[in-house]
Amino acid sequence: MANVIIVGMQWGDEGKGKIVDLLCPAFDGVVRYQGGHNAGHTVKFRDRHFSLRLIPSGILHPNLLCVMGNGMVVAPDAFLQELDQLAAGGVAFDGRLFLSNRAHVLLPCHAALDVAREEARGANRIGTTSRGIGPAYEAKASRYGLRTGDLFSPQLEELLAVQVERAQAELATLGAGPLPPVSDYVELCRAWAARLLPVLADTEQLLNSAIDAGKSLLFEGAQGTLLDLDHGTYPYVTSSNSTAGGACTGTGVAPTRIDGAIGVLKAYTTRVGGGPFPGELTDARGEFLRERGNEFGTVTGRPRRCGWLDTVVARYARRLNGIDTVALTKLDVLDAFDEIPICTAYRLAGTVVHELPPDRWSLETVEPVLRTLKGWKTSTVGILDPADLPQAARDYLDFIEQELAVPISILSTGPRREETLIQPHPALVRLTSDRLGKVIEQR
Ligand code: IMP
Repeated sequence: MANVIIVGMQWGDEGKGKIVDLLCPAFDGVVRYQGGHNAGHTVKFRDRHFSLRLIPSGILHPNLLCVMGNGMVVAPDAFLQELDQLAAGGVAFDGRLFLSNRAHVLLPCHAALDVAREEARGANRIGTTSRGIGPAYEAKASRYGLRTGDLFSPQLEELLAVQVERAQAELATLGAGPLPPVSDYVELCRAWAARLLPVLADTEQLLNSAIDAGKSLLFEGAQGTLLDLDHGTYPYVTSSNSTAGGACTGTGVAPTRIDGAIGVLKAYTTRVGGGPFPGELTDARGEFLRERGNEFGTVTGRPRRCGWLDTVVARYARRLNGIDTVALTKLDVLDAFDEIPICTAYRLAGTVVHELPPDRWSLETVEPVLRTLKGWKTSTVGILDPADLPQAARDYLDFIEQELAVPISILSTGPRREETLIQPHPALVRLTSDRLGKVIEQR
């Protein structure tokens, strides 16, 4: 058995959903450990499309345990909508989907604050998803947050009054409209509590017992490494630890019980929202990548900013997350280019640097140092044997492996599950226990 963390190595939207879905046959459970309904992907199941933002997509695999950990902030209305969607689609989740009773509740007043603060930031806006993620985590860190277990507290009204009054006071200073009275929130929370009761659990105990029983768990990070609150491009980040370390604090499973990490890396780079992006292409090539890669946000529909692959970022992500092996996604999007530059270093005030500068001002001024590789100008879609890859594509992959010093064992060349090349590198074999054959068979 192996417990594995899967994490995005860039600014999110690396295609983690597809890789998690692909690897599910090798695991007994999938666990989300941070974030909220700022994440999201659409998953196809029995000719139906499901739009999931909170619930791990593993729910579409019968019998798989799905857990939403204590590190998440959960908007109950969004969660209940997802449950309704699953029920309407005939997906059974009773007894295998659990939400931590220590996860924090994201309230409508958090979303109102998020929107008003962004408005007030003007040109310096972070470009959040407007879901209220930052204010919900802030309430948690300030120790007046409401946890899902508190929905049943006799002090529910007092707990809500603190949240609503603080939000109201700040909204007034920002010139934003009044919030509904606390009694409305109490009513809402009581209705949510009744429906949430069957899925709430002490998920720390549940997960550790599953591991004790020899089960293998896949810990799914939302967003990406560069959006991590501590290690990302602060302040243009999300409000949780999306890096591998977050899997332990966000679930209560100790680091000593985790066996490794798989990094998901897109063959080029995208980011949505504000903040530094050293290799950003603001010309027709960026536009071409966006159109070819369909780079529009799944949650907000916003166009994503696009650029070439940045190995300064990828090396940083490899180290921070202790990546054992990489799943490289969307290689096919690069099929049309004559040449493919890769950003391998930055020029900062005339000096070449190989590490990500920690401060925002340096990151905003660095220039990418590019290494240009030949394009392959032929379709790679659906190639399943490495020998069938064009030589230039192989050179591209070899270059990335050398830069990162870890093998690429999964290569995605299209949105469908069968469009995935899987190489049984020892790292992947180890992390999928003895079930890689099952993964390949169900691909
Ligand atoms: P927040 O998480 O809504 O507070 O947004 C903070 C930053 O993270 C913004 O730049 C968002 O665009 C970005 N972000 C949040 N969730 C995702 C995601 O799932 N994919 C990509 N970017 C995200």
